[in-house]
Amino acid sequence: MLTIRILGSGAGGGFPQWNCNCDLCAGVRAGTLNARPRTQSSIAISSDGIDWLLVNASPDIRQQILAFPALQPGRARRDTGIRAVLLIDSQIDHATGLLMLRENDRPLELYCSRMVQQDLSTGFPVLRMLEHYCGVNWHEIPIDGSAFEIAGIEDLAFTALALSSKAPPYSPHREDPHPGDNIGLQVRDRQTGRSLFYAPGLARVEAHLEPAMKAADVLLIDGTCWTDDEMALRGVGSRRALAMGHLPQSGTGGMIEALRPYARQRKVLIHINNTNPILVEDSPERAALTAAGIEVSHDGMEIHV
Ligand code: MLT
Ligand code: MN
Ligand code: ZN
Repeated sequence: MLTIRILGSGAGGGFPQWNCNCDLCAGVRAGTLNARPRTQSSIAISSDGIDWLLVNASPDIRQQILAFPALQPGRARRDTGIRAVLLIDSQIDHATGLLMLRENDRPLELYCSRMVQQDLSTGFPVLRMLEHYCGVNWHEIPIDGSAFEIAGIEDLAFTALALSSKAPPYSPHREDPHPGDNIGLQVRDRQTGRSLFYAPGLARVEAHLEPAMKAADVLLIDGTCWTDDEMALRGVGSRRALAMGHLPQSGTGGMIEALRPYARQRKVLIHINNTNPILVEDSPERAALTAAGIEVSHDGMEIHV
């Protein structure tokens, strides 16, 4: 059975963010809000509960492993339940954790697109840095829609879908988007035929994603912001959700509306920014999601597909 463990349900910065005193960050810090803290964006996937694929390597990976015994050393003096790492982009919140895995006793088995491999060898050269530690065995992910395998996790079939979004600010081709800068991931259990579609960064539900989303049993999808301008609304900057590649949930054309045709699917939001009112469990915004049949993931949540 395909199991997904939510290691980190927050967006970049986590919740609360270290330097933020917005109502939400201050409230969760003080314990006056009905909200849970969240670490930065990462999930682990397994079909047998023993060998896990880490999807995105968060700066909080150390804390996330401490909170999840299945990833801890259990069989040998030096050991891990992490069989391989897959990255959906080269963003700081998804790639920095590779550096925290440098003590691995063999090269890290890394699955990512050629574009992500290039960013992580140039603008954010963690792969070159890791050559001085455990090293990396890079496997290029195809982005032409063909399925690929991950050694050690053969019960699952993977497909990457290129998303139209930007590479990070430090990418050599920041202003010149390439297919593979960001991907959505389809994961199918070969035995049961059931599948997951995972996309923590989604600026819009693009037409070419629809077959994978319709076929999916679970959609684990971008929950970054409630409104496009919520950072400005909370007085913490001017960056807009859509400009960052994240479709807000509310309003015309928002994620709630975009997910309406997916009545059969279990719908779960992930990558929640610390400015998003859905973090408050008894907020009207959270109630609106619940009424639309949409859940909000939290750290430690397990999803069985
Ligand atoms: C994003 O998803 O837009 C980035 O993670 C933002 C960031 O980490 O600064
Ligand atoms: Mn992010
Ligand atoms: Zn905040």
